[in-house]
Amino acid sequence: MAAEMALVKPISISKFNLTRTPTTTTKFSTTTTAMSATTTTTTTGPIRAKAAKKGIKESLLTPRFYTTDFDEMEMLFNTEINKKLNQEEFEALLQEFKTDYNQTHFVRNKEFKEAADQMQGPLRQIFVEFLERSCTAEFSGFLLYKELGRRLKKTNPVVAEIFSLMSRDEARHAGFLNKGLSDFNLALDLGFLTKARKYTFFKPKFIFYATYLSEKIGYWRYITIYRHLKANPEYQCYPIFKYFENWCQDENRHGDFFSALMKAQPQFLNDWKAKLWARFFCLSVYVTMYLNDCQRTAFYEGIGLNTKEFDMHVIIETNRTTARIFPAVPDVENPEFKRKLDRMVEINQKLIAVGDSEDIGLVKNLKRIPLIAALASELLAAYTMPPIESGSVDFAEFEPQLVY
Ligand SMILES: [Fe+2]
Ligand SMILES: [Fe+2]
Repeated sequence: MAAEMALVKPISISKFNLTRTPTTTTKFSTTTTAMSATTTTTTTGPIRAKAAKKGIKESLLTPRFYTTDFDEMEMLFNTEINKKLNQEEFEALLQEFKTDYNQTHFVRNKEFKEAADQMQGPLRQIFVEFLERSCTAEFSGFLLYKELGRRLKKTNPVVAEIFSLMSRDEARHAGFLNKGLSDFNLALDLGFLTKARKYTFFKPKFIFYATYLSEKIGYWRYITIYRHLKANPEYQCYPIFKYFENWCQDENRHGDFFSALMKAQPQFLNDWKAKLWARFFCLSVYVTMYLNDCQRTAFYEGIGLNTKEFDMHVIIETNRTTARIFPAVPDVENPEFKRKLDRMVEINQKLIAVGDSEDIGLVKNLKRIPLIAALASELLAAYTMPPIESGSVDFAEFEPQLVY
């Protein structure tokens, strides 16, 4: 998992820890417990420095952790119950995951620390935030996939093993980002994060929509940044981006696996409710990213990107990819869609300004009411725009094929 999706989730106010550490090696050691996978970080350096804990302000748009109805998941992947499960396709996918293309990809070098040391002032701060948020999003995928791998072992060992191998990938991604934080003398306390953060519950159907989108949008974000920096090396200020080309292939494979999972559950894709939910999840993911990134333009400008252009490119490409499997998607290429996103950014900026003002809590809340109403109305207007009817060509197996 690589991207964030927050608009459909409740606000939680728990905080996570950033621990200042003088050592630069952070390792993943994982232990699974009853309901959720637990991961701890351990330093291999002599002694971890006294914790200088730093809370991070959480908001509606902060990356979250997910949990689901694992009993229902077991039912869905029981080959006795669901005859539509294409075990051959899953076997083929499993072989691909076992190949482990990126086994030796995530190896650091001394360029990292040197680049981090050169980064000073606001850019340094922005980079740290980028690493934290990315690490949290990757780690969130690790926890969910790890648990799914554990829970599905008996009913469908092939699907279970794929989930476990995907959790391997996400652990690698999160670990690599956390090592990046060590270049800035920081480390996310992932063990604390696992226990302290709230988990958002999604039914399996919604987990499929959300994780599929999260993987595909993550792919498009990483590959777009990679290609941009390859073409404009003068903006290559931290070596982590050089790893994005192979890294994003992991996210692409994860997304393809969810695509296969959804095809095995056509009831999640082929009725009017599925169309409404598919559009809702797309909109939620796109708006979340756009609002998030527009609050962090300094980061994108720091690597030579225009934030809004970058986001629109990612949204359009993700939407085109998603249209191959989702039964309906928003018409993001209609210029009105972007105009609505931009209006949401303006309203969100006003909401942030209210939060930062000196007013007392009651006054702040009163000022927020019309802004939240305006945001909700923009969202509703975007949701009710005429969508694009879409869907997998594989579903047309009983229909006459078009011949050109
Ligand atoms: Fe990932
Ligand atoms: Fe992923």
